[in-house]
Amino acid sequence: MTGFKALCLGLFCVLFAIHIHMPIPSNIEERWKVTALDAITRTCSFMGICFEHIGIMKYEEFISMIFRLDHTQPLSDEHITVTDTAFADVPVRLYLPKRKSETPRRAVIYLHGGAYCFGSFKHTGFDFLNRETAKKLDAVVVAADYRLAPQHRSPAQFEDSIAVVKFFLQDKILMKYGVDPTRICVSGDSAGGRLAAAVTQQVQNDLEIKHKIKVQALLYPSLQIIDSYLPSLRENENGIIITREIAIKLLGLYLSENKTLTEAMRRNQHMPLESRHLFKFVNWTILLPKKYRKDHVYYEPILGRTNFSLPALMDVRESPLLASDSQLQNLPLTYILTCQYDILRDDGFMYVSRLQNVGAQVVHEHIEDGFHGALSYMTPPFYLQLGLRIKDKYISWLNNNL
Ligand SMILES: *[C@@H]1O[C@H](CO)[C@@H](O)[C@H](O)[C@H]1NC(C)=O
Ligand SMILES: *[C@@H]1O[C@H](CO)[C@@H](O)[C@H](O)[C@H]1NC(C)=O
Ligand SMILES: *[C@@H]1O[C@H](CO)[C@@H](O)[C@H](O)[C@H]1NC(C)=O
Repeated sequence: MTGFKALCLGLFCVLFAIHIHMPIPSNIEERWKVTALDAITRTCSFMGICFEHIGIMKYEEFISMIFRLDHTQPLSDEHITVTDTAFADVPVRLYLPKRKSETPRRAVIYLHGGAYCFGSFKHTGFDFLNRETAKKLDAVVVAADYRLAPQHRSPAQFEDSIAVVKFFLQDKILMKYGVDPTRICVSGDSAGGRLAAAVTQQVQNDLEIKHKIKVQALLYPSLQIIDSYLPSLRENENGIIITREIAIKLLGLYLSENKTLTEAMRRNQHMPLESRHLFKFVNWTILLPKKYRKDHVYYEPILGRTNFSLPALMDVRESPLLASDSQLQNLPLTYILTCQYDILRDDGFMYVSRLQNVGAQVVHEHIEDGFHGALSYMTPPFYLQLGLRIKDKYISWLNNNL
């Protein structure tokens, strides 16, 4: 066993040394730290792929194993009571301020990222973010752990997320936790940003739901899966933390067990013939600012190549960018944070454009030296400044607008 561990460590060191040579854009702060972080991510990813090829374990099992090392217990402190419980059978972590309040409190429902295959509110980074939100805003925070792929594929993640939100929006629950029904936010990062956007669309357009969302905050969100060849996906194909290849692999695991889909997504030929009318919603030649589209050529989508029939591909809950103008008009005040070095950058930019085009209120913050997933590395051992900056921007925006 010791020999095996030594072998693993040796292998890791060799791989790390190979991966440390990846160039990091020159405007990124803490270059050395980011280089190390990126090399570790690539090394783990590479090991996962090797293990899968050799047949030791699946790629996603290996990565999940690493992620689980970072789980925290619900730890209360002098300001906040933290408990793990369940809303509508979905595990949630609750952050309740201890101080007595004269007036009902604000509330934030948080949906974590992790490409639908990984992640939990238990991760140090998310736990820290939600604790800080509760503390700084004197708000109730609910963090939800929706089911994960590939054991649970689409739309299980959306169904769990909306179930938690609907459960929380009931009068008796809001009353129980002392929450003001007119001051509720839904937030999320990355894949969780997509869930937050989809849940908000659903809640605002559902006449049966009495209490509505006051603001939504989407942090480097994923907002569409129909075009896998956007400029940001091309520019950051081999980007920091998440590459186009890995993103497509994980999206494939989330959507279907059929590998034909993953192959087709790589070539951007995964959409069926009858989806042509949807491409106007992700037409980046119209929806992206000039600066971000000028170096790129638009290719019309090639449809019907695989005749892969999967309803999720055309589902607005998977791609909130596919919502109609009238659905977008009902959306609440929206905060969107995008990062320059991120395959998902253009998703965020295009949602901003679409919301602005229908006159919805949207605040866009673009981090010129930002990269994807930084919130997950703001806690020890990395203390990534970029993650802390994003956290501060998000919390201070919420404090002023929720
Ligand atoms: C996208 O917009 C361009 C104009 O910039 C247009 O030529 C093209 O037909 C559009 N494609 C789709 C699928 O909407
Ligand atoms: C997909 O369906 C279309 C129309 O039904 C057909 O013309 C085309 O040959 C099919 N493509 C494949 C790869 O099966
Ligand atoms: C995967 O999907 C393709 C296209 O629809 C189909 O031809 C193929 O048989 C499927 N493979 C499996 C293993 O289901």
